[in-house]
Amino acid sequence: MISSIVLATSMLSVVLAGPVELVTRLTAAANPNAALPGWTFVGCFSDNNPASRTLQEHNIDNPGMTPALCTEFCGNFTTPLNFAGTEFTSQCFCDFNIQGTATRLNDTACSFPCGGDSTLTCGGAGAVSIFQNNNTGVGPVPANKAKVGNWTFDGCFTDAVAPNPRTLLESFTVQGGVTIESCTAQCEANGFNITGLEFGQECWCGHTFSVPAANITAPLTDCSRACEANHAELCGAASRLSVYLLAPPVVSSGTPTAAPTTTAKPTTTAAPTTVVPTTTAAPTTVAPTTTAKPTTTAAPTTTAAPTTTAKPTTTVAPTTTTKAA
Ligand SMILES: *[C@@H]1O[C@H](CO)[C@@H](O)[C@H](O)[C@H]1NC(C)=O
Ligand SMILES: *[C@@H]1O[C@H](CO)[C@@H](O)[C@H](O)[C@H]1NC(C)=O
Ligand SMILES: *[C@@H]1O[C@H](CO)[C@@H](O)[C@H](O)[C@H]1NC(C)=O
Ligand SMILES: *[C@@H]1O[C@H](CO)[C@@H](O)[C@H](O)[C@H]1NC(C)=O
Ligand SMILES: *[C@@H]1O[C@H](CO)[C@@H](O)[C@H](O)[C@H]1NC(C)=O
Ligand SMILES: *[C@@H]1O[C@H](CO)[C@@H](O)[C@H](O)[C@H]1NC(C)=O
Repeated sequence: MISSIVLATSMLSVVLAGPVELVTRLTAAANPNAALPGWTFVGCFSDNNPASRTLQEHNIDNPGMTPALCTEFCGNFTTPLNFAGTEFTSQCFCDFNIQGTATRLNDTACSFPCGGDSTLTCGGAGAVSIFQNNNTGVGPVPANKAKVGNWTFDGCFTDAVAPNPRTLLESFTVQGGVTIESCTAQCEANGFNITGLEFGQECWCGHTFSVPAANITAPLTDCSRACEANHAELCGAASRLSVYLLAPPVVSSGTPTAAPTTTAKPTTTAAPTTVVPTTTAAPTTVAPTTTAKPTTTAAPTTTAAPTTTAKPTTTVAPTTTTKAA
């Protein structure tokens, strides 16, 4: 048993390159307290805000903390967590995703000795050493869905962040739990054309944003929390809404965009301002800010949205679209 762990960890040491990691791994190779087999060190990340942890689904504090203990804890749940992180010598955190509030740090920021084995490192002050679980049976890292039924992903928006009120005004309880599918279906059944998923478990619906979209656009990576009822999907975050729009009823072409009919009328008077243009800004601009996360596979899929801007046919249109009133 021990020999197999030693073998697995010594193999990992060959793969990793960073100076601190190397020291850690060389030591770990001879130490059965290294992270369990199937778990791979992905980096040292910031964890500066106790109100919004980098890994926030579960946690334990144990003076005998080691990477082995933490990865065992996070892998022990009915649905094993994708990420485990040690911090401040004795703490352990688990999540399905690395939250968008985190940034990747130099590995040297995670240099505190582990409480249970001082030859290993367990994070730092405001810094968490994160391992990813690649064991069989572990689900995918949660992601957005470009399209669900008649709904199209629109982006990530803030909710009720002062001085703004609630972004969407109708809240629903969903039988069986909130997922992208169940919440969009709930909104559609109740006649709404905007769906917002928040904090892993809230379902919001509306016909319009109560605040101009340009004022509440958030980086895609902000919406980083797994849906509690489907850990493979993203459901916003604290004060963040993953937003989906109901496509117009009759769209025969393959375009999934929500842009309503503008192309048909070349004259296009100012009228069709619509709320939709909002969507455009979000993905492109903000994405680059949060560099670190290798986890967020979501980003690429979402880029579909910006297509709405294009419409080269109508020369006048482009100018109007950008300025969301
Ligand atoms: C994981 O589960 C096993 C079996 O239930 C238990 O013996 C062990 O103490 C658990 N480990 C942790 C770290 O919770
Ligand atoms: C990390 O910190 C070490 C020590 O200060 C430094 O030598 C190294 O260049 C840093 N690495 C990066 C990627 O910044
Ligand atoms: C672990 O799984 C993730 C998601 O499938 C993948 O991106 C990553 O490369 C894997 N890491 C290793 C070390 O296999
Ligand atoms: C999509 O909308 C059409 C027309 O309103 C409706 O008949 C169909 O059931 C909807 N599909 C889904 C998956 O909700
Ligand atoms: C939603 O429906 C309202 C009318 O109830 C309409 O004004 C608005 O443009 C629609 N929004 C979208 C995104 O389709
Ligand atoms: C939206 O942002 C604009 C520009 O910053 C500002 O003038 C306007 O007051 C904001 N509107 C709301 C409702 O917050």
